[in-house]
Amino acid sequence: MQIQLSLELLRVVEQAAIASARTMGTGDRHKADQAATEAMRQVMDHVPMDGTVVIGEGERDEAPMLFIGERVGAAVHNQNYHYPAVDIAVDPLEGTNLCATGAPNAITVLAASEKGGLLHAPDLYMEKIVVGPSCKGAIDLDAPVIDNIRAIARRLNRDKEDLVVIVLDRPRHQKLIEDIRAAGARIRLISDGDLSAGISAAVVGAGVHAVMGTGGAPEGVLTAAALRCLNGEMLARLVVSKAEHQERLAKMGITDPKRIYETEDLAPGRQIIFACTGVTDGNILRGVRFFGDGTRTHSLVMNLEERQVRFIDSVHLEKRPDVKVRFA
Ligand code: FBP
Repeated sequence: MQIQLSLELLRVVEQAAIASARTMGTGDRHKADQAATEAMRQVMDHVPMDGTVVIGEGERDEAPMLFIGERVGAAVHNQNYHYPAVDIAVDPLEGTNLCATGAPNAITVLAASEKGGLLHAPDLYMEKIVVGPSCKGAIDLDAPVIDNIRAIARRLNRDKEDLVVIVLDRPRHQKLIEDIRAAGARIRLISDGDLSAGISAAVVGAGVHAVMGTGGAPEGVLTAAALRCLNGEMLARLVVSKAEHQERLAKMGITDPKRIYETEDLAPGRQIIFACTGVTDGNILRGVRFFGDGTRTHSLVMNLEERQVRFIDSVHLEKRPDVKVRFA
């Protein structure tokens, strides 16, 4: 069942990537996001599950589809059959600006788990540190940057100067960037996309050794779901800076706003499935390629329970008898 569901969810992220890739470079991030969201929603209707969106496009009144609490999957249309109940977290297009400008690392993303397996995080900012399997247990969200850099270098058996840390290029990160530079590590500043950066940090050979800084909390939960499958580690804390944030947290049952979340707190599920497809070329995934006879997509599909990580190169052919498939 798990393997079957993984492949069904693969189709969801693939179709969302194809739809949004058609808008690449138009400069219209809303159009790109809408294309991904509509495609994702449409394909999800055929997935044999009784899904509930726990991380989505927003609250019901601000998002026409894939809103938090929305029921998705074949169960919505077929009440007579018993489908497995799953929680769903989506970021239909992670890096809307990246797609709109044709910049690297835009991806479509979905995670699923048994009920309660993904934290219902509010749409706030979150402080994060993400590292790969070798650095598990070596980082501390409250430690000075230099200590974390030293610890990562030690675990990776290399000099601090050989590390690459990804940071979102934002004014709020000025001090963090100064501290990383002072520690001697190299920095890759990105305009968007700390979720795909987090996945790269847990894939050996991707050339990324850590992600540090503040980004979206929903992206944080999705990153944690991927890291569970890749044996990476993430530490995070919500940024609660206004009274209104406190109220939102209280409504969601979060009583300790200063809590440091570990990977398993953010994505505690035992049956996590994570799927993403490249929209534009990126660190670990190629973007969608359109050619005369069809479309080619590159995806990552992971299944925690089955302990499987699959990089999937799919060729979606035109329905004609004379189409050709090229090797890679
Ligand atoms: P979108 O896909 O919604 O455009 O978000 C991209 C992103 O860069 C995330 O990767 C990151 O977590 C968040 O936005 C950072 O938010 P902000 O742009 O407000 O700093």
